[in-house]
Amino acid sequence: MDFTVRSRVEELMDDPNMSFGLLKNAYRDINFCNKWLGGESITIQAVWKLIKNTPKKSYTILDMGCGDGTMLWKLSNFLSKHGVFHKMMGVDQREDVLAIARERCKGAPQISFHKADILMLGPGFECDIVINTLTMHHFEEERIGAFLQKFVELSSLGVVINDLERSKVSYALFKIFGPLFLQTHVAKYDGLVSISKGFKKHELLQMAKNIPSVSHDIRWKWAFRYVWVMEFNRHNN
Ligand SMILES: C[S@@+](CC[C@H](N)C(=O)[O-])C[C@H]1O[C@@H](n2cnc3c(N)ncnc32)[C@H](O)[C@@H]1O
Repeated sequence: MDFTVRSRVEELMDDPNMSFGLLKNAYRDINFCNKWLGGESITIQAVWKLIKNTPKKSYTILDMGCGDGTMLWKLSNFLSKHGVFHKMMGVDQREDVLAIARERCKGAPQISFHKADILMLGPGFECDIVINTLTMHHFEEERIGAFLQKFVELSSLGVVINDLERSKVSYALFKIFGPLFLQTHVAKYDGLVSISKGFKKHELLQMAKNIPSVSHDIRWKWAFRYVWVMEFNRHNN
């Protein structure tokens, strides 16, 4: 396994014909990992910091590649507990995933879900904060520039990206411990592929250089993640 470059292998979950049952079970495994390995709280804390830095009456948050909606659901609960008014939109290109998300978030009218390709998003999706968790690694090098540009175009306060570090150690640990905690073959296989498609810090710093006039903060977090926060100052109260 060569960790010097990002892998181009496709994940099983990228198959648009995957059965609904398999997909739902795989998300259960992914959510388990995100919860216990701190992925969710990293995103929540980064969004919270952006909010505290720029007080507003309410916030619109857009999740690009929202998957089953768990991140928005948890973030919405967190913000409600802190008395922050908000509206949230989740975008994903898969209708089957969005069906799971709508079911998950029924009873939360402040969260809406939309089927769209991130790269094609246009008017109607302007927001304060874009979040993007575990989705950037699905994009090949050539498309990431346009992907990031879309985030910058649509958000007025900032962007929070949370994705995987491409690391030999992480790969080896996941190979040993993944099968002990995960139930589905899809999550076990895709977990390893995802790590091999992840990022090195110098690659993220290079991407950040292409987005000048924005403040960038890229930090390594346990477990083998990078959280990349972009902060602008161009919102209207
Ligand atoms: C690994 S999942 C991550 C889901 C969720 N954000 C999470 O943290 O669990 C990646 C998601 O990105 C979506 N996705 C990938 N490329 C996309 C694109 N071009 N436009 C919209 N969604 C996309 C996939 O359909 C998938 O649901």
